[in-house]
Amino acid sequence: MDMGKKDNSAYSNKGEAFEASDDIPTNRSTEPTLGDVINTRFGRRDVLRGALAVGAMSAIASPAGLVSRAAKAASSRYVFEEISHGADETHHVAPGYSADILIRWGDPVLPGAPEFDPLNQSATAQEQQFGYNNDFVGFVPLPPGSNSSDHGLLCVNHEYTNEELMFPGLGRQDGDIDFAGMTRELVDIEMAAHGGSVIEIRLGDDGKWQHVKDSPFNRRISMLSTEMELTGPAAGHDRMKTSADPGGRRVIGMVNNCAGGITPWGTYVSGEENFHGYFVGEVSGPEERNHARYGVPGGWYAWGRFHDRFDVGKEPNEPNRFGWVVETDPLNPNSMPKKRTALGRFKHEGAESIVNKDGRVIVYLGDDQRFDYLYKFVTDGRFDPNNREANMDLLDSGTLFVAKFDDDGTLTWMPLVFGAGPLTPENGFNSQADVMIEVRVAADLLGATPMDRPEDVEPNQVTNKVYVMLTNNSRRTPEQVDAANPRAESRFGHILELTPPDDDHGALTFNWDILILAGDPNDAEVGAMWNPATSKDGWFASGDNCAMDHQGRLWITTDQGSGWSRTGTADGVWALETEGELRGTGKMFFRVPIGAEMCGPRFTPDDTTLFVAVQHVAADGTKDFQGFERASTFDDPATRWPDFKDDMPPRPSVLAIRKDDGGMIGM
Ligand code: FEO
Ligand code: CA
Ligand code: CA
Repeated sequence: MDMGKKDNSAYSNKGEAFEASDDIPTNRSTEPTLGDVINTRFGRRDVLRGALAVGAMSAIASPAGLVSRAAKAASSRYVFEEISHGADETHHVAPGYSADILIRWGDPVLPGAPEFDPLNQSATAQEQQFGYNNDFVGFVPLPPGSNSSDHGLLCVNHEYTNEELMFPGLGRQDGDIDFAGMTRELVDIEMAAHGGSVIEIRLGDDGKWQHVKDSPFNRRISMLSTEMELTGPAAGHDRMKTSADPGGRRVIGMVNNCAGGITPWGTYVSGEENFHGYFVGEVSGPEERNHARYGVPGGWYAWGRFHDRFDVGKEPNEPNRFGWVVETDPLNPNSMPKKRTALGRFKHEGAESIVNKDGRVIVYLGDDQRFDYLYKFVTDGRFDPNNREANMDLLDSGTLFVAKFDDDGTLTWMPLVFGAGPLTPENGFNSQADVMIEVRVAADLLGATPMDRPEDVEPNQVTNKVYVMLTNNSRRTPEQVDAANPRAESRFGHILELTPPDDDHGALTFNWDILILAGDPNDAEVGAMWNPATSKDGWFASGDNCAMDHQGRLWITTDQGSGWSRTGTADGVWALETEGELRGTGKMFFRVPIGAEMCGPRFTPDDTTLFVAVQHVAADGTKDFQGFERASTFDDPATRWPDFKDDMPPRPSVLAIRKDDGGMIGM
């Protein structure tokens, strides 16, 4: 499908356009190979190991038959009363817990910022206020280096903007080839609403978290004005130079920051995901191959009408300055964020890391597009727990690897190094900078395994296993299924578990397994795989982000997108067993208001608070719910969560979930 602007008009909101963009087969290396063709539906290894026995059972079992006798006997590691599937105007959490709004779009972040006034927005005000569409949430304890769970810095990504829900009198703009409703002023507000926020927060004696409004740590990172440094192999390269930055080392802003991570040294890393959507114009010249592979220009935003750098006809190198992992030191509010080009350029989802047993730091990375790849970055240097300063540039040198999944359960990490294998001048690579700028093309040449949209990838600090969220893939044909992506036209995604040998995350070979195949186990056509102990509410679809608590238990948050990939229940948080007899059993803990996606799960070090981010409330999927057959807009939204006031639009917000007795979550 040609992702022209007119095509977008079929979608009711920007999130849906992001989904649609994943339909562009920018990966040209996904023609079925001989190996693909000879694969059976689930791959030899899974059948041999009996992993699919569970799936087959749950797929054919009647709902009443789902709870097996064996599983009933085992006890869940997650102690809470499960909530129900459903969809309505507000959020729901398990009984005995409270989910309180901590900060909303428009709330003041900087000391002295104006109060939110939705009818009198300005870019100046927005740059001092909490941005739109909170996604990643990180927690850095205060004082620095402590394990405090009642005081810290919250680091939040603001991924994108929904102009139809932000501004009065506007519909969705990316269905309009002229962006007729957009003005320079509205575009600048949108840019100011992108980026990140750092806020100091404290737990009060009443058990409620509060934003410390006069804190010197409070910071807005804005797409409109925050200067960033490009570091690593691509910094200063000719392909990074623009008329505004002839040195190729400075860029204003970060864009479409989705998930991310907190490093072992307490910095906030943030992945630039669908950067292609912000560009317009005609592509020609030496960047044609590159821009085609990344879907540039996406043409979803009017920014290029008012800012020449978002017109690729005028600034063909500007897209090369986006699609990176950005590292910010939240403890120094004056520090310049750094785009770490050693971690490669793609549609970055998360960037969660772990200190390996040899002291090197491993960052796990997903490229969220249909048929794109899973990566890990291994630092050259070693983490020094006693010298924070010595760790601050660890992400500038190391090796990026891309994953190849074999049907026998082996995962091979292939290095992306200039001069090695096909990464040579004959294939258009003349330096490591070229490899990092066009990582996707390099990974194609290495024969990486095309995945069903890799989202968050999270190492378990307790068990050393690694969990990979794969959201869905509408375009995988029956001939393209393989053992690691075992369903054609996967509507609801799946979760892989990776096991490094001897707990060595630096190893070049891991083992892999399927944890669950998501979707409704009561619908045989879905082909889901869950532990039969999973209740009628315990299954979910389209895992996107995840969090590991400090007991090593896995919690999943979902993003079903719109239309085709929805199940009829709202997104939320589910606990998911990974060990023992109940492995593969889900349990529903939290549900978002209609039209929202669930992002940012993050526990405090003592597991007594779970922070979550409710993104694009009143947007996605509103057509699915009773009474909401219409477009949802600022003037007529599907819900006015969280304020429920006639003069307030719906507002993406971060919530703090706590047990009413102050105890550990799920214990
Ligand atoms: Fe922004 Fe891949 O979700
Ligand atoms: Ca995501
Ligand atoms: Ca997603």
